[in-house]
Amino acid sequence: MRSEIINQQNPKGAGNLSTQRWSAERYQQTASFVPALGSAVLELLAPAPGERVLDLGCGDGALTERIVAAGALVTAVDAAPDMVAAARQRGVEARLVAGQDLDFVGEFDAVFSNAALHWMRPPERVIAGVYRALKPGGRFVAEMGGHNNIAAIMVALNAVLRGHGLDARRLSPWYFPSAEAYRERLETAGFAVEQIRLIPRPTPVPAGIEAWLDTFADDFLGAVPQAQRAAVRDEVVELLRPVLVDERGTWIADYVRLRFRAFRPR
Ligand code: BEZ
Repeated sequence: MRSEIINQQNPKGAGNLSTQRWSAERYQQTASFVPALGSAVLELLAPAPGERVLDLGCGDGALTERIVAAGALVTAVDAAPDMVAAARQRGVEARLVAGQDLDFVGEFDAVFSNAALHWMRPPERVIAGVYRALKPGGRFVAEMGGHNNIAAIMVALNAVLRGHGLDARRLSPWYFPSAEAYRERLETAGFAVEQIRLIPRPTPVPAGIEAWLDTFADDFLGAVPQAQRAAVRDEVVELLRPVLVDERGTWIADYVRLRFRAFRPR
């Protein structure tokens, strides 16, 4: 997914695009925990048979399939061609659309998103597109990275890249808002927020943090000359090892979720 960078973690707020290269195969090998941990936000969505649902940032469609199984009529969108292809292979009606470019008008009973909104900038453009896409009375139910999400990983990336003359804050494609800040954004766009909260969720990463960095951190490691990239990644890993590996040797990432349910008023 390509996304613009404008945030407090990137003080310049320049319109850089994420350079993340998404591979559905790699995602399924190293990050299948992402849709697997989506049950709580799916419960909050509570899709009903016959409802029209937009899955925003559907990835490989693993969670979309569960919304379809509930009887909803689902349109799924993602900005990564390989993810859209993988979702289509599951039989999901998936389209190649970036979250910043939603052009649906009053079509959906619900817009759903899991682990995707933090890649989409600027957030106000995404939220405005979601609002437009909903029918009056429709709901926006989502989970994303929230304030302090993967803080240890961010600190390690900052420290190591600084040693190589790079500013990780400027390279970051991510947006991890506090509940208060995101509530304000939703309300400014016209939403009525029913609930919004941060949920710390230490998350086992069975494939290890090397694989996590290879899957998600292209924006940082891609800025390092190819010849040094593996060594720089290993520096990040060694800085994180004493903090994120538990006594049984499992890597546990310091995820913090922001989960919310908001309505477009009738
Ligand atoms: C997240 O789901 O919080 C996340 C995943 C990959 C990179 C950054 C954040």
